[in-house]
Amino acid sequence: MNSTENVDELLDVLKVFSSGVATYSDIDRDKPRACRRYSITELATMCNVFRRNIYEIYERHPELTPLEVAPHNKRSYGTIQHLTELYALLNIHPGRGDTELGRAISVYTPKGGSYKTSTTFNLAIEFANRGLKTCVIDIDPQATATLMLGYTPNEEIQRADTIFNWLTGQHGARIDINQMRWTQERQDDVDRARAQVKEWENGPDDGSDAPEHVFKASETDLKGTGCIRPTRHPNIDLIPSCLGLDFAGMVLSFQIHGADTEDPLTKLDAFFRLRNIVGLLKQHYDIVLIDGQPSFGTMGVNLVYAADTLIVPVATEVADIHATQAFSQLLIDNIEMVEEFSGGTGVEHPSLRFLVTKLSDKQTIEEQRSLKLIKSFAGDRCLDKIHKRATGTTKAASLYRSPSEIYPAGNDLNKRVVEKAAEMYSEIAQEILEKEVYPHWAKFRNEQESA
Ligand SMILES: Nc1ncnc2c1ncn2[C@@H]1O[C@H](COP(=O)(O)OP(=O)(O)OP(=O)(O)O)[C@@H](O)[C@H]1O
Ligand SMILES: [Mg+2]
Repeated sequence: MNSTENVDELLDVLKVFSSGVATYSDIDRDKPRACRRYSITELATMCNVFRRNIYEIYERHPELTPLEVAPHNKRSYGTIQHLTELYALLNIHPGRGDTELGRAISVYTPKGGSYKTSTTFNLAIEFANRGLKTCVIDIDPQATATLMLGYTPNEEIQRADTIFNWLTGQHGARIDINQMRWTQERQDDVDRARAQVKEWENGPDDGSDAPEHVFKASETDLKGTGCIRPTRHPNIDLIPSCLGLDFAGMVLSFQIHGADTEDPLTKLDAFFRLRNIVGLLKQHYDIVLIDGQPSFGTMGVNLVYAADTLIVPVATEVADIHATQAFSQLLIDNIEMVEEFSGGTGVEHPSLRFLVTKLSDKQTIEEQRSLKLIKSFAGDRCLDKIHKRATGTTKAASLYRSPSEIYPAGNDLNKRVVEKAAEMYSEIAQEILEKEVYPHWAKFRNEQESA
C-alpha cells in the first residue's frame, strides 16, 4: 500500500517536508543583495538630461555617492541609491504630488497558479526601480510574495505580524500608520514575549492557569510587531502574510453574519476593511499592490473593493478561461449586492484590466485561439502586454529575486534569458502606469489647477 497508513506516519512525512523546506528557503539569505543596475544612458533618460550631464553632475557634486564600476567591462553604472540621490538633487518627483493619493492595484483572480504573485512581485520591483514608493500587501496565507521579498512566513512572521489585527478590527476602527509600522523595539518586545510563552508551554503541565507574566506576554504576542516592514528594496515596504492569516476570512464572515445592526452599510462594513486600510496607505505610498489568494469569499470581496485598479490575470488555457468566466459572474453578483444594499450611495468600483498570462514564446494554435477569445471578451480592458512564460523569471525566482535584480550582474545565469524577462516586466509596468496610474494623477492635478 502506497498511502500513509496511520496518523503518526502521515505526520512524520509532513514534518520532514515542512522542516526540510524551511532550511531550503534560507539558501539565499547570506548572499549579497543584488539590485538593478542603471547604465549612464538609463540614468540620463530617467533624469531627463544628456549622458554627459550625468558625468558633469558627479564632477560638480562630490557629496553624491560615487558611481560604481562593473569589474567585467569597467563601465560606470548606478544603483537605486544613485537614482534616488539624483532625483533629490534635480528635484524630480516620479510619484504622486504632495496632495495626491497613491493608486491601489489588486492582482486577483480566485483561479490558482495564474501568475498573481509573480505579477505582483515583479511589478513591485519595476515600480520601485522607477522611484515610486510601493507598498505590497500579501493577502495569501501561502505567503509567496512575503518569501520573495525576504521574510520567512510562519517563522519570522506570525498572524499578529500580518494585516490580520487591522482587518478584523482588533486595533479598533481608527487606523494609525505609526501603529502599523514595524519597529525594532516592538520586534524585541514580541520576541521576548513569544519566548516566555513558549517556555511556559514547554514546561511541566500541572494544570494550573498561566501566571501573570505569561498572561501579559501573550497579550504582547497578540499585538504583534507592527505589519508594515522594510524590504531589501529601499522603495518597497511589505505587509507580510503567513498561514495564520487564513483565519481572517472566517472572522470577517462571522462579523458580517453576526452584525447586530439593521443598517445595511454597517452590516457590510467587513467587506470594506481592506479598502479603509488601503485608503490610509495611499496617503503614504505611490502604489499599493495587493497579492490576492486563490479563493473568493469575504477576503475576495475585500480585495476587489480595496482596488482602484483590479488586474485579473488570465492564462490561455481552457480551464483558466472558464474560471475567469465564473469569477466574472461572482463579481457581477457581489457588485449588484453592494449596489442594492448601499442604495446607490456611491461606493466606488475598481477599474478592471485583464492581463494575459502563461503564453509561451512559440504560441501554439490552441494558445492563439484562446488569446483571440480573451481579447474578444475583454476588449480594450485587456492589457496589450502579456505576462509570458519566461525562463528568466523562474531562474531569478530560484534566487528569490526578480529578473531585474540580477540583471546584468555577472553571475552564472544565462544573461539574455534574464534580460528578456526583465524587459517584459518593464513593459507591463509601463503600460499599467500609462493607463491606470499617470492619468489618475494628471486628472487630480488638473482639477486642482482649475479650482
Ligand atoms: N513568467 C513566468 N514564467 C514561468 N513560470 C512562472 C512565471 N511566473 C510565475 N511562474 C511560475 O508559475 C507558478 C505559479 O505562479 P504564481 O505563484 O505567481 O501564481 P499565483 O496565481 O500567485 O498562484 P496561487 O493561486 O497559488 O497564489 C509558480 O511556480 C511560478 O514560479
Ligand atoms: Mg499567489
